[in-house]
Amino acid sequence: MSNNTAAGAIKTALAERFGEAFTIEPALTGLDELAKIAGHRSHRRYAARPIDADLLRLLCACALSAPSKSDLQQADIVVVNDAAIRKGIVATIPDMPWILDAPVFLVFVGNGERLPMLTQQHGKPFPNDHLDQFFNAAVDGAIVMSAFMNAATAVGLGFCPISAIRDHPQAVSDLLHLPDRVFPIAGLCVGWPAQAGEITPRLSLQTTVIENTYGQRDLAGEIDAYDRRRAALRPYRRQRNVERWGTAQFYGWSQDKARQYAEPTRTDFGRFIRGKGFCLD
Ligand SMILES: Cc1cc2nc3c(=O)[nH]c(=O)nc-3n(C[C@H](O)[C@H](O)[C@H](O)COP(=O)(O)O)c2cc1C
Repeated sequence: MSNNTAAGAIKTALAERFGEAFTIEPALTGLDELAKIAGHRSHRRYAARPIDADLLRLLCACALSAPSKSDLQQADIVVVNDAAIRKGIVATIPDMPWILDAPVFLVFVGNGERLPMLTQQHGKPFPNDHLDQFFNAAVDGAIVMSAFMNAATAVGLGFCPISAIRDHPQAVSDLLHLPDRVFPIAGLCVGWPAQAGEITPRLSLQTTVIENTYGQRDLAGEIDAYDRRRAALRPYRRQRNVERWGTAQFYGWSQDKARQYAEPTRTDFGRFIRGKGFCLD
């Protein structure tokens, strides 16, 4: 792709995403890569084409090259290529059949097992057993997953993260034999995209990029503007839980998220993480 074409693709994608115009210096290096990142969309349908084992290994290595808090390296990637295990995971998530269709299914985990082990090995105390330990491992795992997604994007693969594996974390942990202090962050379906997919609009940068301090602002007004911009471009195909909430005349993103989070989900996750041996104080 020429730089001008890439700059055009970025501008088009970001206009759709944020409803804003961007100035792009055409001589900038890496515009091809930025065009792919700006054009991101999750893919839930995959071509019947396998992913070569060497390519998967390469992507895992690129992902695990990401920075790591204090060089502690508290993230692992579980490659679930045993059909029975994958089926077992999907059985805990009945409404997401595409997890079975994806050529590759990964589970990104936070790993807090190694640090206390090596402090013990070296006869040192471990006075840092508190919430930060869990948080560090979760952040490292999320960064590795993000790096994997960027690496996959670079080679033209599509993917869809699956946090629904935390709906029944103990079942997933049992299926994958996760040791103490190792916990699932998200699954990732990966495959060659079968469809172009669509860009999902995001909140305006006015809402999510803050200069220095959070001042006074009309957050409700900004969200309403986003609801309307998004509805004009990508209206929701169906309203969530109409039986409980009825049919809204205008159904935007904020209404959808409010309905989604009106139902209790993953209320046992803290108990599960404590059960894995983490102290969350
Ligand atoms: C941590 C994380 C967990 C997600 N979990 C799921 C999931 O369980 N099922 C699913 O279909 N999509 C899941 N997604 C995909 C989001 O629904 C998707 O990113 C969002 O709707 C925005 O769409 P886009 O990625 O195409 O921009 C997840 C995304 C992230 C980052």
